[in-house]
Amino acid sequence: MSVAIHQIWPPRSAGPLDAAAIEQLYTYPDGDWLAVNLVCSADGAVELHGTAAELSNPADQHVLRLGSDLADVLLVGATTAMVEAFRGQHPDDQTVRRRRRHNLSSVAPTAVVTTGVSLPANAPVITDALVPTIVVTPTSTPPALRSAWADAGATVLVCGDHTVDLRRARVLLADRGLRRIDCEGGPHLVGALLAAGLVDELRLTISPTLVVGTAGRITSGPLIPPAALTLHSVVAAQDTLMLRYLTATPPITAGG
Ligand SMILES: NC(=O)c1ccc[n+]([C@@H]2O[C@H](COP(=O)([O-])OP(=O)(O)OC[C@H]3O[C@@H](n4cnc5c(N)ncnc54)[C@H](OP(=O)(O)O)[C@@H]3O)[C@@H](O)[C@H]2O)c1
Repeated sequence: MSVAIHQIWPPRSAGPLDAAAIEQLYTYPDGDWLAVNLVCSADGAVELHGTAAELSNPADQHVLRLGSDLADVLLVGATTAMVEAFRGQHPDDQTVRRRRRHNLSSVAPTAVVTTGVSLPANAPVITDALVPTIVVTPTSTPPALRSAWADAGATVLVCGDHTVDLRRARVLLADRGLRRIDCEGGPHLVGALLAAGLVDELRLTISPTLVVGTAGRITSGPLIPPAALTLHSVVAAQDTLMLRYLTATPPITAGG
């Protein structure tokens, strides 16, 4: 592990977490679980110059990678898939070994939520993927576009009328054995997932930087009744804080 990560909460007296301990901490519980993984600046910006790249750092990348390595499926909104240049998972040997240890398929597919506006059929997340990307879209999406996604290699799941019915989408993913979901954004999708009561966990990296500006927050959409969070763990790498919050208090069994 190239970055020294210390556990702050729950308190732990030993030195930095070794690779096995941090992997164990970020292992998903068995069964259905949806974790949202986001990074923001200390003043709350979710992007800088249009993407999250300049907010991230090796420590954030380390836990982000654990999120995808240990999940059944990645979930993103169409805008994030495009601006963050998603191209499906291309696992290196470490990821393949890690996924084998956890009895996961060698490559986690990516699922993209879209009405069709922001996801062309030649999107790299479809054309560059090693395993078929799952496009989740409502019935209002033009059939020609659905066919074009499929012709480009995607698996197309249809649910909802004019927007994706996210509850139904989760069921359709679970039907395919994709139960541990690593959602990597963006704010509109996360807001919709929260409104639908589908988020089990928030994994939030606070980047040690202030940027001012007018960037959005980690969530976007209509107000929801305030959702209380339970602090599950805090780890730090130098000045970067990586928090895990649960939206309820279900038992976390596998990862501790
Ligand atoms: N800091 C971070 O960790 C992080 C993570 C991810 C993204 N970001 C940043 O966030 C920004 C993008 O924000 P965003 O909120 O627009 O991204 P987003 O949530 O990834 O994408 C929004 C799009 O997702 C689709 N979508 C979401 N919910 C849907 C639903 N229920 N039904 C159908 N389609 C749905 C729609 O696509 P269609 O338009 O195709 O219908 C919608 O326009 C970028 O600057 C990106 O860099 C930051």
